Amino acid sequence: ERQEEEEDTNIINAVVSKLPTRQGWSQSLVLYKNYWINPLFVQGILRLHTTFKPRHDDIILASNPKCGTTWMKALTFTITNRSRYELGNNDHPLLSRHPQELVPSLEIFHRHKNDDSLINSLEALPSPRLLPTHMPLSLFPPLSSSSIAASARIVYVCREPKDAFVSLWHFVSKYRRGGEHSTDNLESALDMFIQGFSPYGPFWDHCLEYWRQSISSPDNILFLKYEDMMSEPVKHVVRLATFLGVPFSVKEEEDGVPEEVVRFCSFDNLSSIRVNKSGEFVRVQDRVVDKSSFFRKGVVGDWVNHMSEEMGTKIDRVMEEKLKGSGLVL
Ligand code: A3P
Repeated sequence: ERQEEEEDTNIINAVVSKLPTRQGWSQSLVLYKNYWINPLFVQGILRLHTTFKPRHDDIILASNPKCGTTWMKALTFTITNRSRYELGNNDHPLLSRHPQELVPSLEIFHRHKNDDSLINSLEALPSPRLLPTHMPLSLFPPLSSSSIAASARIVYVCREPKDAFVSLWHFVSKYRRGGEHSTDNLESALDMFIQGFSPYGPFWDHCLEYWRQSISSPDNILFLKYEDMMSEPVKHVVRLATFLGVPFSVKEEEDGVPEEVVRFCSFDNLSSIRVNKSGEFVRVQDRVVDKSSFFRKGVVGDWVNHMSEEMGTKIDRVMEEKLKGSGLVL
């Protein structure tokens, strides 16, 4: 088996090394089947193709980067584990672990070559598994259309692209390299973004794939927008619980449990928990991502504080053109 695995790794490395590469966003990204992805994550995705064993009750949490992944991880964990970990108790796992660590993304599990322990821990997760990913739908092999129709449940969260762009730019600017901060400027980042060159970009294609699938299989994909969740969080938490197969009971609603979930997972609350405020989340090559980087401002429409109207219009134009006729408005 070891030998087989090594062969897999060699094949994967050979595939990745032949892909077109481009520098930007403080890293190099490779173009894999229409999407610009960090080569380490492409390795993870390819490895996933050979090792992932789907379960009928898996819950996939999909998103473009910076569209509310951390929030979604906290919400879905809290909702699906609420009988095991009661809200208000001081042993709730979100009080001692960062949402990104508590509910790690699939690409992270599979990034490390020959690291059986991570794959085994994915196998060891209790059902239903919460499986977050930034993978585009078309790169997720178990989700061929027939298996989606059968059982998969996918929650997709997307976000207004100007806010997502500004959030991404800040996130990348906080990467640390040997103590120094990166210095990509906002204008050049904007040019890259509207060319479709961003991590897991083109941004619009990522959204569109899930959007189209949500129209053809509405029972299997819950398509959410960050802004809608911010303006009516309780309504969306109730929808989420129902979709995840653990609806709130009448008694729970009377007792205000959905409101309590919203409060517990709010930006203000999560960002004030000690474990989310300090320490390193991950060190990839010479790049350090701090745990606090996942909590910046959590505000809708913050782009106006960082971009001119003219810059905003550039993104609006591209999005309008790319989403035309799809019925999706972001
Ligand atoms: P901003 O940079 O606009 O503040 P992701 O989790 O997909 O990486 O997205 C990060 C964005 O979600 C950041 O946006 C972050 O501040 C915001 N965020 C993190 N936790 C949140 C929460 N509990 N509620 C709302 N927004 C949150």
